[in-house]
This record gives sequence, C-alpha cells and structure tokens, in this order.
Amino acid sequence: MPTQDWLKKEFGYGYDSGNVLSIFPSSVRRKEERAIGGSYRKVFRQGLLPFLKPNSKILEIGPGRGSWSKAILQHIPQGELHVVDFQNVESWLQPSRYPGRLYCHQIEDSSAYDRIFDDDYFDVCWSFGVLCHNNLDKIEDVLTQTIPKVKENGYAIHHYGDWEKLENYGWEKGGVPLEFRDKQDDEIWWPRNAQSQMTAAAQRAGWKVINADLGLVQRDSIAVLQRCN
Ligand SMILES: C[S@@+](CC[C@H](N)C(=O)[O-])C[C@H]1O[C@@H](n2cnc3c(N)ncnc32)[C@H](O)[C@@H]1O
Repeated sequence: MPTQDWLKKEFGYGYDSGNVLSIFPSSVRRKEERAIGGSYRKVFRQGLLPFLKPNSKILEIGPGRGSWSKAILQHIPQGELHVVDFQNVESWLQPSRYPGRLYCHQIEDSSAYDRIFDDDYFDVCWSFGVLCHNNLDKIEDVLTQTIPKVKENGYAIHHYGDWEKLENYGWEKGGVPLEFRDKQDDEIWWPRNAQSQMTAAAQRAGWKVINADLGLVQRDSIAVLQRCN
C-alpha cells in the first residue's frame, strides 16, 4: 500500500489539482478544497509566496501534473524550478515551454537527491499532497536527503497528513475512509502522522521547525522548516 511501489503505480495517470491560483476554483479543485477544508489559492499566497523571490531556486517534490509547479513558475521569472517525482512528468509539465527555468527529474527513491543535485543549491523545498501518502520513515528519508540541497537559512514547506486534525475535522468530510483507523500504515494510502511526529522527524533530519502548522487548512498540516547552521 503506501509503499513506494504503490505510490509509483497509483499516481501513474498524473494527479491534477487544477489551477491553484484562479479566483474561482475548477470543479476538481473545489472538490479537493472541500475535503481539505481550505483554499489552495490561500495556501499558495500565504504559505509559499512569502518565501519566493523572482530569482529563487525551488525544489518541488511530487508535482504530478504540475498544478503547484505552474503557479511557482509564474512567480520566479528569473529563477529555476526542479521537480522530482516517481512518475515521468515531462509530458505533463513540458519543460521545453520554460527553457532554463524548469527541470524534471524522475527518481526511484530518496537516495537520488544526492546524485542529482549539488549541495546548498535551493532556496526553498516544497511539496503538497505528497508526504500525506508516505509513511513516516520515508518522510524522514526525504527530509534527511533534501536538507543538504537547501542553502543555509533556506526553507522547506511541506504539507502532510495529521490524524489529530483529521479526527477533529471528520473522516468522512475529509474523504479518508474511517476503516483506516484499524489498519496498519502499510495497508492504507493516508498513513499516520501528526505535528509532534513530523516535528521530531524534521529535527532528527537536522531542520529547525519554524512552524509545525501554518493553520491554513483544517484537515491537514503544513510545516515550515529552516536549515540553520
Ligand atoms: C497526490 S499527487 C499530488 C500532485 C501535486 N503535488 C498536486 O497537489 O496536485 C502525489 C504525487 O507525488 C508523487 N510522490 C509521492 N511520494 C513521493 C516521493 N516520496 N518522492 C517523489 N514523488 C513522490 C506521486 O508519484 C504523485 O505524482
């Protein structure tokens, strides 16, 4: 189940969240926003935009069809976006449309970061809708492998599943099957995580946790991490 093999197969069709910046959400985005209890436009504008500069170098994990990638590219006209996914996302994201600005990398596991990227390269590492499908040990792997790739004082902003918020928000409303409560993480696509667990994993990986949750969506959490000396 939410093993890497499952993730590789499940999202092969190319996950799409629609245009995350439009004022009026498409039906796809509206459905997702109802489940998550928040606005993607607000998440982008309050959760990520304050960390972007026109020349920022951004690492995005798990772009799928690139809903967030396209929004990022609009705001880094002199920057670079590198996206990393288990899927080959080139046909969806078409990097030739963004010469010198968008690079797509297909990976097998988190050990690839070290082979692909120089250390101290990125200003920000970002993911949305990705870590919520990864078991905590794999999340820690991602956090450990990506920290050296981010510049000192650079940031990581990651959306992740939070079972404590989910419990309060409501499983049915959140679109997560209630029977997952009685299953092991390896059997489900929304493995256990919470702010305390995510904080501990991020700290073990070497990040300073600036905020375990920005409070922008009701079902899940979004953490801001910083690479400090
Ligand atoms: C649910 S989709 C979300 C796509 C996009 N971020 C969005 O919100 O529309 C998850 C994507 O992340 C990829 N993915 C999941 N775990 C990953 C990991 N550990 N490393 C790289 N890609 C991952 C999947 O292959 C899939 O394309």
